[in-house]
Amino acid sequence: MSAPGWRPRDLVKGFRPRTPREGADAVVQNFVLHAFPVRVTKKALGWLTSGWLGTISLHLFLVLTLTGAVLLFIYVPSVERAYASVKDIEFVTSFGGWLRGTHRIAAHLMVIVVVLHLVRVFLTGAYKKEGPPGAYRPLNWWVGLVLLLLTFFLSFTGYLLPWDQLAFWAITVGTQIAASVPLIGEEIRQLLLGGTTVGQPALIRFYVLHCFVLPALVIYLVAYHMWRIRKDGGLAATDRVVEDAKAQARVVPPAPGKTYTLMGATEGGTVQAHTPVALIERESTPAIPAIVRRAFATFVLTLAVCSLLGVMLPAPLEEPANPAVTPNPAKAPWYFLWLQELVSILTFQVGDVTVDGAFLGGVLLPGLLVLLLAAWPLLDRSPAAAVGVWFHSSRKVQNRVFLALLFATAVLTVIGTFLRGPYWAWMWPWDAPPAPPTWM
Ligand code: HEM
Repeated sequence: MSAPGWRPRDLVKGFRPRTPREGADAVVQNFVLHAFPVRVTKKALGWLTSGWLGTISLHLFLVLTLTGAVLLFIYVPSVERAYASVKDIEFVTSFGGWLRGTHRIAAHLMVIVVVLHLVRVFLTGAYKKEGPPGAYRPLNWWVGLVLLLLTFFLSFTGYLLPWDQLAFWAITVGTQIAASVPLIGEEIRQLLLGGTTVGQPALIRFYVLHCFVLPALVIYLVAYHMWRIRKDGGLAATDRVVEDAKAQARVVPPAPGKTYTLMGATEGGTVQAHTPVALIERESTPAIPAIVRRAFATFVLTLAVCSLLGVMLPAPLEEPANPAVTPNPAKAPWYFLWLQELVSILTFQVGDVTVDGAFLGGVLLPGLLVLLLAAWPLLDRSPAAAVGVWFHSSRKVQNRVFLALLFATAVLTVIGTFLRGPYWAWMWPWDAPPAPPTWM
């Protein structure tokens, strides 16, 4: 039995509420639309307030899930057949190359967009604990940090699946960095690989993590992340709208000459009240259809960009994985190359002692960075007026340090990606590869 007045074509028909009340009812009664608030401030909807970067991260995850679900039908997670099945996807299956290319581009873009989302949240001070009653935005910052690590790990586990030389050696290098954690490093590496080298146990572990465990965790945490935004009273920029409304709220004195009489029993000047509620109402709009339209537009744009780049930049497939042939240099996935670069810079000799760059650059520095980011909402001393404001003057110093660190990470990544040749020697793109060292 269908609900009264409901027709099957309503499933596909565009929903256009005729009144704000109808939009509000849709939010309350519809399972999908329930994720949205009833009203949203015009400020929060603005493209420059958040860049919609969190929403685009979510859309990229959606594109990855959709394309990944189709790839699952053909991919075989076995050392003997993985490479051949990827080759089939690339060259035999209809639209397989496009599907694989779109999946790969979406994965790279997700890493970039999630980092940009973090940068936006940092620069707008949207992680701060000051907020309306019941709000505690640091929680969403911490959930976000876990989502960031999961995004890296999702991409890293997917890297191995084609089982070509690029995949095999990137994972070998990446897990070697993990092995430099003191005391338990080798255990972590063996837990990841299911042995001491990259082989069948590693492939099946990475496959299960990449296709099932990590996506499930991301779905759960993103749902919680979105729910927290509602509990925190909307995006941080909304706080300013509410505070401004409270400051403006006042009773306007009667205009001269404007009077009223009440059935002749009493008379006086008319009074106009500007209450915060009325002012906030003026600064906001029904979420349906405003948010839905923008979310749909960003989804279509995200899908179009991924598809287009997926066609223009086909996913690489090198020779099949061969543990006996080590490429020179063997590089980690690009988003870990700043770590590989740090490892190389921090490995040096002092007298007879060799300083262990793998631990310093691969574990200690990035570990401290994550800890510092996690602690930041508790260390930041800027005032409540700075919440949700881009580049607030009270955060000038911390923003500069943050941007400098970000720039350094980007520079190290570019060096590791484009300017390192055999034996990790400096190499301009136009240079010929250097001769092997004499001990080779
Ligand atoms: C899979 C990764 C992530 C997804 C899908 C996601 C999704 C979202 C969405 C949709 C929003 C609403 C605003 C917007 O569209 O920008 C948002 C806000 C927020 N996100 Fe994320 N996010 C992710 C990762 C992160 C990370 C890495 C951080 C920081 C460490 C973070 C911290 C926050 C905070 C604090 C807010 C509230 C911002 C405000 O009040 O202005 N998120 N996120």
